[in-house]
Amino acid sequence: MEQRIDKLLAEVEAFVGTTAEEVEAFRVRILGRKGELNDILEAFKSVPSEQKRVLGQKINALKMRAQSRIDEAKALLGVSQSSSASVSDMTRTGSEQPLGSRHPISIMRREIIEIFARLGFVVAEGPEIEDDWHVFSALNFADEHPARDMQDTFFIEQKPEVLLRTHTSSVQVRVMESHKPPIRVICPGRVFRNEAISYRSHCIFHQIEGLYIDKDVSFADLKQTLLYFAKEFFGEQTQIRLRPSYFPFTEPSAEMDVSCSLCGGKGCPVCKGTGWLEVMGCGMVDPAVLKSCGIDPDVYSGFAFGMGIERSAMMRFGVKDIRLYFENDTRFLEQFESA
Ligand code: DAH
Repeated sequence: MEQRIDKLLAEVEAFVGTTAEEVEAFRVRILGRKGELNDILEAFKSVPSEQKRVLGQKINALKMRAQSRIDEAKALLGVSQSSSASVSDMTRTGSEQPLGSRHPISIMRREIIEIFARLGFVVAEGPEIEDDWHVFSALNFADEHPARDMQDTFFIEQKPEVLLRTHTSSVQVRVMESHKPPIRVICPGRVFRNEAISYRSHCIFHQIEGLYIDKDVSFADLKQTLLYFAKEFFGEQTQIRLRPSYFPFTEPSAEMDVSCSLCGGKGCPVCKGTGWLEVMGCGMVDPAVLKSCGIDPDVYSGFAFGMGIERSAMMRFGVKDIRLYFENDTRFLEQFESA
């Protein structure tokens, strides 16, 4: 009997009805009053009771499958289902919905946020359409600073004071204006610059900004925080170095490099033979910035840092063209961790 059920199930699975008559004839032959299924049910009565449970389940499955195959065939032919068949079967297994995958930038952002969350940083966000004060003036940019030039920043023609933020440092300002220290935030976001689009630069990209303000925050705190991050993100053996740099909103300012994880610092094409990779800008928040944002620089000090996400993602995943991140080609996206 088991063989008979299996054979019939195979037949049901293979069934393709090209006309409504064919589907109906198939239905009568399998599910009709004198059909195969009833015949099997008749024989089922004399099955030894210890086999009844297993066989009973198989027969039920066969019946449901036959009914759904017939419904499907009818639907394909545009034939309305008979009244009894149209009652939906709530016990039927749902059809599988394929899940998408996470965008590589989201994967990186989540990982970076998780690392800083372990140190007590919380996420803060701000608007992408900003004003001059939050992007430049409060951050100590001089009036004639080249970043304020049309060549670098997207302005709104009718309203020159409205612009697309060129960095997530604007979120620092918003957080300091609206919160009292201690402040410990990490600010991920999209930024915009008027750059020619090529395999290495784009007019849209992502940054993560960090800000820590409290009493007695020192450069040593900054260094240790960034070392912790580098080891967690790039691997335990990673070393960092800080090179003096300049940003209007930090004093002193530095550029942080990490030892190249591909060659272990020996020098390779990725690090252009130097053994180091530039990862982020950082520094102690300039007292003038604290003042602009309503925080007393005689009481509080702090550090800030900012990094691009695309570059790290390119290194991590071996992506050689930044444009791929914004094209949403599913052949590219499918290769990353599923959601
Ligand atoms: N905003 C800078 C940029 O877009 C990055 C940066 C540098 C952020 C130093 C900081 C910092 O917070 O302290 O290039």
